[in-house]
Amino acid sequence: MNDPESGSHAPTSPAPVALITGAAHRIGACISRHLHQAGYSVIIHYNRSAAASEALAHELNATRAASAVCLQADLLTTDEIRHLAAQAISCWGRLDVLVNNASLFYPTPLDTVSEDDCRKLMGSNAWAPLFLCQQLREALARHKGNVINLIDSTSGFGIPEFTPYTMAKAALANMTRSLARELAPSTRVNGIAPGAILWPEYEGGLSETEKAERLAKTACGRIGSPDDIAHAVMFLLNASYITGEIIRVDGGAALYS
Ligand SMILES: NC(=O)c1ccc[n+]([C@@H]2O[C@H](COP(=O)([O-])OP(=O)(O)OC[C@H]3O[C@@H](n4cnc5c(N)ncnc54)[C@H](OP(=O)(O)O)[C@@H]3O)[C@@H](O)[C@H]2O)c1
Repeated sequence: MNDPESGSHAPTSPAPVALITGAAHRIGACISRHLHQAGYSVIIHYNRSAAASEALAHELNATRAASAVCLQADLLTTDEIRHLAAQAISCWGRLDVLVNNASLFYPTPLDTVSEDDCRKLMGSNAWAPLFLCQQLREALARHKGNVINLIDSTSGFGIPEFTPYTMAKAALANMTRSLARELAPSTRVNGIAPGAILWPEYEGGLSETEKAERLAKTACGRIGSPDDIAHAVMFLLNASYITGEIIRVDGGAALYS
């Protein structure tokens, strides 16, 4: 754990605290910056991106001392999820917001998809959010907490050659609604379903033709930005009468499905 300033545990925070998984880069980092700017103390979770995560914490702590820490965990391991949850609560003695953002995303054509692929894709996108909610439910309930799940605008209709990923995101959408009831009224649980926000970074990625085809089927006619997702997060946190809802932030791409 990278403590805000000293190396020992930080004192209990009067500020609300948010844990953002997979927050070293891209959308997770942007959500962390917006939460921090809104006055949250942030816990930047990472798995492999230690340097980027520490750089982000350093950037945030430079604008407000002792307001950001980093915690490492591989979310495919239940013991590490449990440990992450316990460490997250002990950082500032409270937790108000859990953003389930971490994800694996890569192609798995039916001919070659393996049990290990399913374990990784289901684990990172669906099981980890479930078990984090389990471990954090009491802490969240103490502060009228919020869970925000990053889903995918394609989860309702699937993507050829990405079946386990879209299965996992569909499970996460289902979990959002189930837990919104199970954790009510103390904790609200909502989701955001992004469309094309940042192009994927898996090996090979999308060709320029595939990107153009995707944008041609996006009513807004352009790729989104991580800020669009962070704005939806902030909206949901302030929307105290919304739970069990999933907001598409996809530039209207679902209209073409
Ligand atoms: N990008 C888009 O346009 C888009 C579109 C639809 C949905 N979404 C959803 O929005 C969220 C953010 O998207 P993104 O593209 O910014 O995500 P991303 O860069 O693909 O992944 C975010 C982080 O997930 C972490 N992660 C992966 N496997 C992990 C594991 N086993 N344990 C712990 N952490 C793990 C990685 O952390 P480390 O780097 O530290 O290893 C990674 O940096 C995701 O849930 C994604 O499915 C994004």
